[in-house]
Parts: sequence; structure tokens; C-alpha cells
Amino acid sequence: MSAISSESLTKVYSDFVNKKLSVTALNDFTINVEQGQIFGLLGPNGAGKTTFIKILLGLVNPTGGRASILGTLLPDVKVRERIGYLPENHRYPGYLTGEQVMLLFGGLSGMNHAETKSRTPSLLKLVGMEQWAKMKVKKYSKGMMQRLGLAQSLINNPDVLFLDEPTDGVDPVGRKEIRDILKRLKSEGKTIFLNSHILSEVELISDRVAILDKGKLLKVGTVDELTVTDTNYEIGFTGSLPENFHHEAAATVMKFRVDKQIISAELKDASELNHLIDMLRRHGIDITHIAKKRTSLEDSFINLIKREVAS
Ligand SMILES: Nc1ncnc2c1ncn2[C@@H]1O[C@H](COP(=O)(O)OP(=O)(O)OP(=O)(O)O)[C@@H](O)[C@H]1O
Ligand SMILES: [Mg+2]
Repeated sequence: MSAISSESLTKVYSDFVNKKLSVTALNDFTINVEQGQIFGLLGPNGAGKTTFIKILLGLVNPTGGRASILGTLLPDVKVRERIGYLPENHRYPGYLTGEQVMLLFGGLSGMNHAETKSRTPSLLKLVGMEQWAKMKVKKYSKGMMQRLGLAQSLINNPDVLFLDEPTDGVDPVGRKEIRDILKRLKSEGKTIFLNSHILSEVELISDRVAILDKGKLLKVGTVDELTVTDTNYEIGFTGSLPENFHHEAAATVMKFRVDKQIISAELKDASELNHLIDMLRRHGIDITHIAKKRTSLEDSFINLIKREVAS
């Protein structure tokens, strides 16, 4: 059973006065998230990421399509008990302490007071906020607010966790700590659905990622599937290349660069790779390794979005 699935989900925010201002926030969006995975949804501003989460939480009604959580077709009130949510740009009343925020949200999610009270200290400890439990949240920094938000999203011990920009405003050390917490939650069997702009971070923890732009799914797969290319290779060699090598190679190979004992080549297809290997061997050069090169998730993301703009 999948943790989250959507089928042709569509959301149009209609402007009934000026139809031209209607926005298609999600357009035929189909994805599937397996239980126990960390799934990253990436996309530029306005791509539809928050809209997707809000539909799953029952906060926004879809215009078309369907979605389910843990096998239950939405909308369904009961399944919400198994969901945790950290909204983007969340605000808590400034006069409450961290501990009181936890008690308030425990109550809102239908838990009894005693249960919430007993879970609160361990959750605040998990996010490194135990010493600030009695401080009013108006004194919290952005990073402290995000940590409290994460603890609050866990108050009902959810099976599926939706985090909308969880590390927004958090410093690099704090981000690493949040990543470690998410890995720990995953090891406890929870499914984590993450919206983020910070691609390098998503790359580090996600089992699968999807790239969304203008409401449309551009790509979905493992980080490897999105970052290993079929066209970029690295060839290691020993010795030195003959003087005319650059000239000879440039006649047939699209793009290449030599740095110390490594040739990095952007090739059109496998025949170009073989041609390059033949050329090196003809010159008696020993090849030490040939590897497909990986691009960063950020490069892959930018290329996909660029292609979309161009088309
Ligand atoms: N309540 C609303 N009424 C009208 N339009 C909306 C509403 N909420 C979102 N939109 C529009 O829908 C589109 C998708 O917005 P959404 O907030 O889902 O994007 P996002 O990917 O979360 O963006 P960001 O990265 O900035 O958080 C945007 O064009 C936005 O202006
Ligand atoms: Mg958003």
C-alpha cells in the first residue's frame, strides 16, 4: 500500500470576476509515494507544491482527480489522525510558550491533555528545544520556530508527515540536525513528504524526488535517476596526451575538457565514447577508468525548468 497517491489531481483557483486571473495551480498531477520513504517535491515559486499538500490535508478542494493517504480515498476525517503537518511560514501566538504551543496543537488534533503533556518533553528534546520550553515564542528565532514547528507536527505520532519548507531560515548546523531527525523518523517507519527549495538538502535525504513546474510534473525518480546522465563521462588515464590530441578529438567529440589525468566529455551517444577510447588506445594511452558523471540535483532541476520555459 502506498502512503500517498494522487491521480490526475487538478486545482484551478478561479477568479470569478476576471477569468484571466484564474490560476491552474496543479495540472493532471499523478504521483505515488511509498510508505517509509522520504519524498521531496521540488519546484520554483508558484509551482503548486503547497497546493498539493493542502489538498491532501483537506484544506483545499481539488477541481479534478483524486488522492488517497494510506489507502484511504480523500477527503476522510479519520485518516487525518495519522497525518502530521508543518505549514510554510507558520506563526504561533507570540504570548504562548513552546510548551503551550505543543499543548494547544495536541488539543486541536484531538488528543487528550495528559497524553499531549507526556509526549511534549521528548518531542522538544528531539528537536533540541527542551531548554526553551518555557520561553514565549515571540522571543524565538526563525530556526527555533522551525524546530518547534517540527515538534508540533509530531505531537499525534503521525505515520505520514508533511513538511512545507522545514528548514526555511535555519542555519547550516540546524539544517543538518533537522536532516538527522528526519532520517531518524524514517527509521521509525514514518513517511516524510517534503516541500523544499533547498535542492542540495533534498538530494541528501530523499529516497525519491519529483519536479513540479506550473502545476505539471516534469520528472519523478530516485535522486540517482535524476542526476546520473547518459551523456557525461569521465575517462581517467595515465601518462600524458600527445600534443595533437585536442585537435584530433575536437573533430569528432562534442565537448571535452582535460584536467590532470581526467578527461571530462559531454558526448552525443555511445559511438562518441568508443571513438574517444579508440583514439586514446591508438596513442598508447592507458585508461584507468570510465564512469558516467553525475550532475547535481540543482543542475538537473535548472536544465529541466529551462527546457520547459523554452518549449
Ligand atoms: N488561495 C489562492 N487563491 C488564488 N491563487 C492561489 C491561491 N493559493 C495559491 N495560488 C496560486 O497557485 C499557484 C501555486 O501556488 P502554491 O502556493 O501551491 O506554490 P508553491 O509551489 O508552494 O510556491 P512557493 O515555492 O512560493 O511556496 C501560484 O500561482 C499561486 O499564486
Ligand atoms: Mg509553497
